[in-house]
Amino acid sequence: MNETLTTMWKRRSVRRYQEANLPDEDLWLILEAARRAPTGANRQNWRIVVVRDADLRRRTAEACNGQMWMAQASVILCMVVLPGEGKVNGAIVLDHAVLAATSLGYGTCWIGAYDASKVKSVLGIPVDHDIVNLVPVGLPADEPKARGRKSPSELFFREQFGVSLDYEPVELVEDAVTGE
Ligand SMILES: Cc1cc2nc3c(=O)[nH]c(=O)nc-3n(C[C@H](O)[C@H](O)[C@H](O)COP(=O)(O)O)c2cc1C
Repeated sequence: MNETLTTMWKRRSVRRYQEANLPDEDLWLILEAARRAPTGANRQNWRIVVVRDADLRRRTAEACNGQMWMAQASVILCMVVLPGEGKVNGAIVLDHAVLAATSLGYGTCWIGAYDASKVKSVLGIPVDHDIVNLVPVGLPADEPKARGRKSPSELFFREQFGVSLDYEPVELVEDAVTGE
């Protein structure tokens, strides 16, 4: 079993977290995975606000359209890109952090529903910077089942757009591909 693929297959959006601390050494590994991610022309035009303070986590969750469960997580990462930069690099970097966290046994969830001006105000982010997404990180309090995905033939095309490419999905982890 390839550990990297197993980690990718195991990732779920986790929306319930245990009240546990995330040790520094694990947090540093997650952040280091982000730091090592590629960016266009190696511009590294992103910044992450690491939110550990309980009150700030609560206020950040409020600013994310009231998704208060986010505040249960030990840490909330807020991905920010510098003025005038697109969000692609920030998304790639944040996904490296997500997969690193998964590999260490932590749950995460991408958060795209937020009020940008409120999040900026809570976290002191300059108004001319863009927020890409946020991600809570913490020990999962449940084990969400894998959500279904479209079939390969709908998602992939062979050589030309619209020409289905099909294959049998590989299931490295039980129910990870088609389970609901
Ligand atoms: C860009 C992006 C934004 C998302 N925003 C939210 C969000 O604000 N709140 C939430 O509960 N889930 C959010 N999700 C999680 C998706 O609902 C979830 O990834 C999807 O349903 C597939 O489930 P899975 O992550 O468990 O495989 C977001 C996911 C992505 C990729």
